[in-house]
Amino acid sequence: MISLHQVQELQNQLNIARKANKTIGFVPTMGALHPGHLELVKKSKSENDITVCSIFVNPTQFNDLNDLKKYPRTLESDSKLLETVGCDIIFAPEVAEIYTEAELELKRQNIEDKAWTEGKEINFGKLDKVMEGAHRPGHFNGVAQVVSKLFRIVQPDKAYFGQKDFQQLAIIRSMTKQLDLPVEIIACPIVREADGLAMSSRNARLTEKERSVAPLISQTLFKVKEMQSKFSVTELKHLAEKQIATEPLMQLEYFEIADAESLQGINAHKEAKSAVACIAVKLGSIRLIDNIVLY
Ligand code: PAJ
Repeated sequence: MISLHQVQELQNQLNIARKANKTIGFVPTMGALHPGHLELVKKSKSENDITVCSIFVNPTQFNDLNDLKKYPRTLESDSKLLETVGCDIIFAPEVAEIYTEAELELKRQNIEDKAWTEGKEINFGKLDKVMEGAHRPGHFNGVAQVVSKLFRIVQPDKAYFGQKDFQQLAIIRSMTKQLDLPVEIIACPIVREADGLAMSSRNARLTEKERSVAPLISQTLFKVKEMQSKFSVTELKHLAEKQIATEPLMQLEYFEIADAESLQGINAHKEAKSAVACIAVKLGSIRLIDNIVLY
């Protein structure tokens, strides 16, 4: 496994691989790796000759400066974990390697930078107006910006994303299609702790007490899935709201039952061919998200 920090070094390596007709799989991450991330790497390993994992805490997707500052940075232990699953290349650039000072200035001024669309009219429609998009202004623009930059640098054949971030996956699919990038987007299932909590880099920041109550989030989703055929959409929403309200440390940001493709909330089961229940909860100062496909 090699660890690279500069775009040029990475591209030199990848050019050699491409000349030898090797396929390239790509797993973008922000580090603080856990088994959920490693599953993406393993999947990429099984489908490509070379797997690149990027570790980059992307400043433009954070709408909360404190969250960005406190985001765990654990490159050394991440490298060890990636070695255990046979990752070929780690790409861990500095911020200045990815962003120009002008781009960072726009972020500081809270102006959405659309240069990543390269003049194309990119429109996420209603996809980024709901749930995470509604609660984290600018977040998905920052995600699309960095992923499009990384795709252009790595030029992978396939790129791997977790269903843990269900809406992010939809945004990335839409971005890739609209920019006409030749990358196949592969979705990977959510990896959970033994008690059901969806693995997340943010879990490490929970206090012991918060961690002990955190499984209520996934338990609520499992309950909703179990009851879906007996209850209406409205009843399921009430059930979820009531269940989260039983825990004083938790504050529900949203619980939504949405069409799994458009991500727009539905009012009746028959409105969607496939539906997903999505939840965001503030537990102490940590914001956690999870989801489950209902049908
Ligand atoms: P990060 O939160 O580090 O996640 C990297 C990838 O791992 C994402 O595709 C995410 O969905 C996936 N992932 C995280 N937890 C998972 C779990 N429990 N099970 C399965 N997959 C999981 O998502 C980002 O970084 C960033 O937004 C990024 C795409 C890298 C752009 O900066």
